Amino acid sequence: MYRNTTCGELRISDIGKQVVLAGWVQRIRKMGGMTFVDLRDRYGITQLAFNQEVNAEVFDKANSLGREYVLQVKGTVEERYSKNKNMPTGDIEISVTELTVLNEAVTPPFTIEEDTDGGDDIRMKYRYLDLRRECVRKNLELRHKMAFEVRRYLDEQGFLEVETPVLVNSTPEGARDFVVPSRMNPGQFYALPQSPQILKQLLMVAGFDRYFQIVKCFRDEDLRADRQPEFTQIDCEMSFVEQEDILNMFEGMSRHLFKVIKGIDLPKLPRMTWADAMKYYGSDKPDTRFDMRFVELMDLLKGYGFSVFDNAAYIGGICAKGAAVYTRKQIDGLTEFVKRPQIGAKGLVYARVEADGTVKSSVDKFYAQDVLQKMKETMNAEAGDLILILSGDDAMKTRKQLSELRLEMGNQLGLRDKNKYSCLWVIDFPMYEWSDEEQRLMAMHHPFTSPKPEDIPLLDTDPASVRANAYDMVINGVEVGGGSIRIHDAQLQQKIFEILGFTPEQAQKKFGFLMNAFKYGAPPHGGLAYGLDRFVSLFAGLDSIRDCIAFPKNNQGRDVMLGAPGVIDQDQLDELQIKVDLKN
Ligand code: AMO
Repeated sequence: MYRNTTCGELRISDIGKQVVLAGWVQRIRKMGGMTFVDLRDRYGITQLAFNQEVNAEVFDKANSLGREYVLQVKGTVEERYSKNKNMPTGDIEISVTELTVLNEAVTPPFTIEEDTDGGDDIRMKYRYLDLRRECVRKNLELRHKMAFEVRRYLDEQGFLEVETPVLVNSTPEGARDFVVPSRMNPGQFYALPQSPQILKQLLMVAGFDRYFQIVKCFRDEDLRADRQPEFTQIDCEMSFVEQEDILNMFEGMSRHLFKVIKGIDLPKLPRMTWADAMKYYGSDKPDTRFDMRFVELMDLLKGYGFSVFDNAAYIGGICAKGAAVYTRKQIDGLTEFVKRPQIGAKGLVYARVEADGTVKSSVDKFYAQDVLQKMKETMNAEAGDLILILSGDDAMKTRKQLSELRLEMGNQLGLRDKNKYSCLWVIDFPMYEWSDEEQRLMAMHHPFTSPKPEDIPLLDTDPASVRANAYDMVINGVEVGGGSIRIHDAQLQQKIFEILGFTPEQAQKKFGFLMNAFKYGAPPHGGLAYGLDRFVSLFAGLDSIRDCIAFPKNNQGRDVMLGAPGVIDQDQLDELQIKVDLKN
């Protein structure tokens, strides 16, 4: 037996016990006739004490240890002379009688401590060392616990976890596919699933009724802090349900997670239509931890000779409480912020509400005080507030810019507290969105999403205004999950494919197997998928989902530790009958 206890367990009540511990050397402190070693394992850190007078041989051995050596020690638990209240084991230490070096270690490239000196790249290259750090390990422990609780909840609700294949074919779900060549079928490729969408619908046709799977999904898209090329979904589907049943079931799952993991009683989730989310927050995933809603100012500010506003298709403002103290320099900083190419606003108009209630704006020469006062009232602004206004010739674009500004102000004013959670459902998404690139309507969620029954007649007359039975769960401005009620009628599905620009032949070729399956009796069904990585990151208060993934990819989609992706041998290419001919 290598050990009979762990480095996180021993307390003052264990004094006098003979213990055997194993772990890694975190730190060595030499203090004359005493040497102290912090021994670390997954469970914590325990101090080892080596006394020259008591055991000179073991003391000498301890003095030749290096960081990250792997040790086994035997000794007695003793009360510590100077206790460390910050450590769970800080009251005790082990007076070591036997020391075995199980393995030596070369000096690690960065310090394996909470505050490491290692930059991102080096930590990712040596991720197995990074994972030894408590803060990183804790995220993975949380991830395990959440996945476990998800399984517990769904099992109790009668869901079956069913695995679906990873080698599938290309499906149109928005992002680019990762593809895998087939040796046995030269010139043909599998695609890795962007999600098991079609397969879970086929499981409903098969009568499985309540399905879930904690499953890897693959999307070849541009990466961001909340996007990885391979990520994990909690994928779910149910039969004989309406939207309300699904929202209730999965609100229940979130409530369970909040309760058991965070000790928070989640209130009934508010629901916001997509149209309202865009109108008031300029985003389909509004961060509702703080208010700062948009106020439309078209009627109020047009027609006073300020050409920027006079020619605008949209003018909207936000009221930043207490921010009238912002200096000119700070406001210039905000102007620079909205003008950044990623945001693309042309400029920013501001108005301060002074202590006496008068409004001082950057466009004073166009607006008399009575107009500015009306604006103040409309915006519910008070003395000490700062009003920020954006305008533009495209309402949707300007709203998105104002949304970025709102979030930035939320950050600057400390309104986005990571320990505070604000969850909601965004519902009634449009069925379609216009793609400038493709010059056609595209499915906003995916082509299997059902229109709202009352909007079905609009499919013929005004498809762009049709709303879907689709919903997202949003927490603190992050889309943690999304889904829809599906079409289970082959004829309606055919029509949706037509609107999306597929000829009947193309639709048959791409989705024939689904439409055929529907002919054999498809139950009404619907579902959703949560992004597990995002959910864990929210609970852990992380800035990037990478920090809760054991071996993540970097922003170029590379695993720098494995050196993936990499070139493959000519032999492998020959077997696949593939010739690499890079265009540039
Ligand atoms: P959707 O595409 O909305 O829906 O994905 C569901 C959830 O998965 C998470 N997610 C991601 N997380 C990390 N990195 C990514 N690249 C990434 N892409 C998505 C998000 C998102 O809410 N089949 C449908 C679900 C359904 O209709 O049932 C689907 O995949 O948290």
